[in-house]
Amino acid sequence: MINIKNLVHRYTIWESDTKKSKKTVLDDVTLDISPGQMVAVLGPNGSGKSTLAKHLNVLLLPDEGTVWIDGKDTKDVSALWNIRSNVGMVFQNPDNQIVGTSVEEDVAFGPENKNLPSEVIQERVADSLRAVGLLHKRKSSPFRLSGGQKQRVAIAGALAGAPKCIVLDEPTAMLDPAARKEVINVINRLNKEAGITIILITHHTDEVVGADKIILMNQGHIIREGTPEELFDDISILKAVKMDVPQVTELAWRLKSRGVPIRTPVLTEDQFAAEMMRIYNGDTIREDC
Ligand SMILES: Nc1ncnc2c1ncn2[C@@H]1O[C@H](COP(=O)(O)OP(=O)(O)OP(=O)(O)O)[C@@H](O)[C@H]1O
Ligand SMILES: [Mg+2]
Repeated sequence: MINIKNLVHRYTIWESDTKKSKKTVLDDVTLDISPGQMVAVLGPNGSGKSTLAKHLNVLLLPDEGTVWIDGKDTKDVSALWNIRSNVGMVFQNPDNQIVGTSVEEDVAFGPENKNLPSEVIQERVADSLRAVGLLHKRKSSPFRLSGGQKQRVAIAGALAGAPKCIVLDEPTAMLDPAARKEVINVINRLNKEAGITIILITHHTDEVVGADKIILMNQGHIIREGTPEELFDDISILKAVKMDVPQVTELAWRLKSRGVPIRTPVLTEDQFAAEMMRIYNGDTIREDC
């Protein structure tokens, strides 16, 4: 679905009206994402995550290397429309993404720009709002919704464009824990039930434990790529780039370092509880307890 080969991105920095320099913020990035995968991108501030996301929707073009979306090179001008329709984007601040005075008008914005017949638009808007659990709010003003609901409207807006892939750049950064959970549940459902390829950029490591693959970025490089189990099996790499790990994962590692026979990595509270039960029952307990 997404194939990135040796991508280099340099921003132009204007030091004065006449003097400019180049800053390399993506350096030799190679990455393949298969259809239907859920891929999480982690990395400290300034590591190049948003720059990478912008390449997926042709908001930026490579200085070197190539990005293919569904087999189409982002440098191919004739593929622009196709790529943009295949890749929906959701950004951090829900307020900046509102374009309509009602929820349904907001979600209809994308399909309307494609000149689709109005029945198709209505159907897509209803399906998208249903998918994010907000069909009952379709007549409301988006400004009256909670942060989590606004972000779900933004996801519905991306969905209404019928994309194969949705890229979410820190969609939960401005939300409280309950709203974060709502949004992450919706994202997981779209991936598991509708088969939409998801690229989720986040600073919250607890949001990535269900991903098929995690990419860890630092200073414009992918420094680690693997399953959540692989990544959290050695948290020293995450710590080295000042990233947190899920609380239960950290707790399990600390207990292990003090001699508790816990099997690591532990990624979820349920796994943690199961490990505690196993140890408590002297390792004789069934795995499904
Ligand atoms: N338009 C721009 N012009 C010049 N430099 C930029 C521009 N946008 C980003 N940068 C720089 O590029 C680097 C990577 O930025 P980017 O926004 O991709 O990082 P990020 O990983 O998304 O960070 P964050 O976690 O803070 O969102 C940073 O050093 C940033 O200052
Ligand atoms: Mg960013």
